[in-house]
Parts: sequence; C-alpha cells; structure tokens
Amino acid sequence: MKVLVTGGAGYIGSHTCLALLAQGHEVVVFDNFSNSKPEVLRRLEQISGTAIACVEGDVCDHSALHQVFSAHNFDAVIHFAGLKAVGESTANPLKYYEVNVCGSRILTEVMLAHQVHCVVFSSSATVYGTPKSVPINESFALYPANPYGHTKAMVETILRDTAAAHTALSAVLLRYFNPAGAHPSGLIGEDPKGIPNNLMPFIAQVAVGKREHLAVFGDDYPTCDGTGVRDYIHVMDLAEGHVAALEQLSRQPGSHVYNLGTGCGYSVLQMLQAFEKACGKTIPYQVQARRDGDIAEYWADPGKAERELGWRAERDVAQMAADTWRWQSNNPEGF
Ligand code: NAD
Ligand code: UD1
Repeated sequence: MKVLVTGGAGYIGSHTCLALLAQGHEVVVFDNFSNSKPEVLRRLEQISGTAIACVEGDVCDHSALHQVFSAHNFDAVIHFAGLKAVGESTANPLKYYEVNVCGSRILTEVMLAHQVHCVVFSSSATVYGTPKSVPINESFALYPANPYGHTKAMVETILRDTAAAHTALSAVLLRYFNPAGAHPSGLIGEDPKGIPNNLMPFIAQVAVGKREHLAVFGDDYPTCDGTGVRDYIHVMDLAEGHVAALEQLSRQPGSHVYNLGTGCGYSVLQMLQAFEKACGKTIPYQVQARRDGDIAEYWADPGKAERELGWRAERDVAQMAADTWRWQSNNPEGF
C-alpha cells in the first residue's frame, strides 16, 4: 500500500514508517516539524536503505493537503500529526482544538475528496479518564479529563460519524497506552523538546547526566509500591500494531477501535529499576507530591486487538529500557 503518514517525523510516526517499510509498504511523510526535526528522515533512510518522500506542511492547511493528495495515489492515511502535551492543552485549549480537531476534520475532508478511504488514527488511553476498574477494555465509557483528551475523543467521534455517513470510508481508532523504548538501531527514539513530561524520557535524561534526579510524583497511591502504575508498550510493538490495523482496514470496512497495550502494569519504581539495569547506573530520585490529574493505576485489556488484528505486544520492559538507553546514550542531545 502507499501510505500517507502525517506526523511521520515524530516519535511514534518515525518508528511506524520503519514497520511499514519492513512489510513492503510505501510511505510519504507529511509533517510541519513543529515537534520533530528533518534529521529523522535521514536516519530512517539510513536504517531502511530506502529513500523517504517527505512533504513539509500543516494538517490545517487545506491546499497543502490537496497538493500532496494530487501528487500521490494513496491507499491509506495514518494520522499521527497533532499536539500531545496535557499541561499545554489546559493552558492553551484553542490551539489543541485547532490542530488536533480541525486538522483531523480537514484531513478527512481532503481524503474523501481524493477518494482515499482508509485511515488509522492515533487516539490515546487518556480518553478513558479515571476507569471504573482495570484492565480497561474498549467498551468502557469515555471520560477525558483535559482538553487534550477531549480532542482525541472528538476526533474519534468525527471519524466514526464520517465512516457511518460514507460507507466507503474505513477508520481504525487506536488507543495507545504508554509508548516507550526506541528502535534497536539506536538511531531514532523519543526526542522531547525542553523538560520531558513523560516518565521514560525523563529517566533517560537523568541517566545520561542531563538532569540531576527523577521526581517521583507520589508514593502513597494504593499500588504495589505506592507509585503510579501504567501499561508501557514498546514503540516498535505499537508501530507494528499500526501495520496490522492497516491490513485489517482493507478486509473490514466501517469504524473500529482497539486498545494498543500489553495488558501488564509497571510502577514508576519498577521502570526506574529496569532502566538502572539497562544502563548499569544508579538513577537518583526524590519523591514529590502527586501530579495533578494523575491516576493511581491503569492498564489495557489488549484482547480485542489480538483477536481481530492478530497483533500482540511482544517486547518487555527490559527491552524498552535497553533500547531507550541505546538511543539516549548514542544521542545525548537528541537529533
Ligand atoms: P510527536 O510530537 O513526536 O509527533 C507528532 C508529529 O506531528 C511531530 O513530528 C510534529 O512535528 C507533527 N505535527 C504536529 N502538529 C502538526 C501539524 N499541525 N501539521 C503537521 N504535522 C504536525 O508525538 P508522538 O508521541 O509521536 O505522538 C503521535 C500521535 O500519537 C499524536 O497524535 C499523539 O497525540 C498520539 N499519542 C501519543 C502518545 C505518547 O505518549 N507519545 C500517547 C497516546 C497518543
Ligand atoms: C501521560 C498523559 C496522557 C498520555 C500518556 C501517554 C498526563 C497527565 N497524562 O500520562 O494524557 O496519554 O502520558 O504518553 O500528562 N511520573 C513521575 N515523574 C515524572 C514523570 C512521570 O513520577 O517525571 C509518573 C507519573 O506520575 C505516572 C507515571 O510516571 O505515574 C507515568 O507518567 P507519564 O509518562 O507522564 O504518563 P501518564 O501519566 O500515563
């Protein structure tokens, strides 16, 4: 298939490009580089030995999208492009509604105008808010707790309604749990701007000496060791989940939603220990107050993706830590 990958220069998009190429698909990246660098594409070419077409553009720019759809005959779109910082979304909600919601609406409209009928969308486990129980399955009610989460739930609705109205359109909505890790080459990985919001990139920056210590947000949760528990999923497993979703789209029209997670939860301290093992160093940490809006624990029920997509996460936290460390230690300043 020839696939347009919006946000393909970003963390998950870049790894997914490699998974697509490995299965013989062709990719065209569309990215405005607001949270990534063009160097990523050079690294993708180095790993894959394939030239990667890339168009610099914004998903809110109707005419840039029309141009790229006119220049290529796409079979499908994987839509990663968007903004993802929860705190920033609370401070500047309109920016999030513009890029995440309007950008997705415009993209869907342009896809239909060019008769491209398959889309895979990056949603997030954040749409569930605080779940009534764990593990979380796809039938749980959605209670997003911040503007970022609302944008993801809104785009899911837009795609579901549009697929219902245009029966040729197929949409797969993928709710990611906590992506972590990097490609085993150590050439690409997560490269956050400024202070990392998420646990794994923060630990990696402490390990490489860029930050003094990890702040552990709370050790009084009702969990195994008092720290927050999440379902960390290796980014290459996540990437392969997108390829499985794409292949299912051509077999099954309509809209479909899947959790992409492992089904296992790990605490902050367990992740820290896995990282210490991978890098062979002690990682200093200090316990601080809980972070506003955090949930004690959640993990996925990934059974539906396994049954319907034939996909299951294969890599464990030791591999996530080892691959993150290879990336971070080879590239202490990122790309
Ligand atoms: P990322 O920021 O690394 O990648 C997003 C890419 O989209 C970047 O390359 C950025 O430059 C690009 N982009 C942003 N706005 C754009 C615009 N208006 N037009 C064109 N390109 C634009 O983020 P990621 O971690 O790879 O996440 C990818 C998607 O997955 C996002 O939609 C995110 O919300 C979603 N998601 C991420 C996580 C996570 O923890 N990383 C979890 C759940 C869902
Ligand atoms: C965050 C986002 C969520 C997004 C998810 C996946 C928030 C409130 N939520 O959730 O929308 O879908 O990432 O990427 O930002 N922790 C520390 N110290 C740190 C960083 C994190 O102790 O410096 C702890 C947190 O309290 C949590 C765990 O580590 O218990 C994981 O945190 P994080 O990586 O930010 O992911 P989520 O909280 O699951």
